[in-house]
Amino acid sequence: MASSERIVTVFGGTGFVGHALIQQLAERGYTVRIPTRHPDKGLDLKISGLAGQVRLIQCNPRCEAALTESIKGASIVINLIGELAETKANSFQYTHVEMPAKLARIAKAEGVTSFVHLSALGANLTSPATYARTKAAGEGSVRAFFPDAIILRPGLLFGPRDSFFNRFALMARFMPFLPLIGGGHTKFQPLYVGDLVTAIFAVLARPDARGRLFLLGGNDVFTFRELMQLVLNVTGRSCWLLPVPWKLAKAKAWFFEKWPTPPLTRDQVEMLKIDNVVGSLPKGAGNLASLGLTPTPLGAILPTYLAS
Ligand SMILES: NC(=O)c1ccc[n+]([C@@H]2O[C@H](COP(=O)([O-])OP(=O)(O)OC[C@H]3O[C@@H](n4cnc5c(N)ncnc54)[C@H](OP(=O)(O)O)[C@@H]3O)[C@@H](O)[C@H]2O)c1
Repeated sequence: MASSERIVTVFGGTGFVGHALIQQLAERGYTVRIPTRHPDKGLDLKISGLAGQVRLIQCNPRCEAALTESIKGASIVINLIGELAETKANSFQYTHVEMPAKLARIAKAEGVTSFVHLSALGANLTSPATYARTKAAGEGSVRAFFPDAIILRPGLLFGPRDSFFNRFALMARFMPFLPLIGGGHTKFQPLYVGDLVTAIFAVLARPDARGRLFLLGGNDVFTFRELMQLVLNVTGRSCWLLPVPWKLAKAKAWFFEKWPTPPLTRDQVEMLKIDNVVGSLPKGAGNLASLGLTPTPLGAILPTYLAS
């Protein structure tokens, strides 16, 4: 049986960040538990030699006993659970605030030593977007139960399996235009998912990271228009970049919200009205540089996975 220092429970570990993180955890010899609602989906990892150290566990996230069981005996808990669009069954309030509070409470009661919680750049209690407000409230709800939790706010993430760049690359294949919501002026500071994973290991290793907030972005700031142009350059596609006024984007989003997986929601339109960049750090907060890390440029990674 693995010693508890080597046991990590990763909630939300079946997603985009989860795949990159679990690959690294397994390679570094950790025993990884991944509670999930859909264990049948499996994981797409390149760790056949180490696969025994990674275990997907069927878990109903509303069942306290199941959550406790998946945390019991672990020394590290990492919460990657998050949604970009809320549903009736899974509101942002539930997923981003109540669920992290429950995980932090159980982790503290079970004697977990390190709790890492993924929030998002733009988390703000006064944001017009519910996503950003609930991400900020979730940070507080985690701290209430696990005061020295480490909270990370990454910017837009890129890497194989990302939903942003892969989606626009796919759209560029089949559509005559790419939409520039609100004119495409919103600024982003994209971060490589591999750098986020490196940052997670860095904060776990540093005692001075405990109880702190880290705002994590890449080196370069791009407008939405520049990101769309980059997608076209990398994939060798040419299509029209079509400005879509905010009001029209909201009307279209209202229609898309009827779809099972909406490509755009009204809340996302609200988020796009605010630049998604690191900016000035809140008091006591850190960034990639304060962890001694240098971001990987977007241009170095995008061509390695975007389909042409
Ligand atoms: N991707 C980005 O660009 C980005 C940027 C900033 C912040 N973040 C944050 O980083 C974290 C990870 O993002 P990601 O891109 O890896 O997300 P993802 O690919 O959508 O994966 C999220 C995971 O959360 C779990 N999940 C979602 N809703 C749940 C619910 N109601 N109950 C239980 N589990 C639920 C899912 O696990 P199962 O379906 O297996 O149960 C899923 O694997 C999230 O907190 C996200 O908000 C992401």
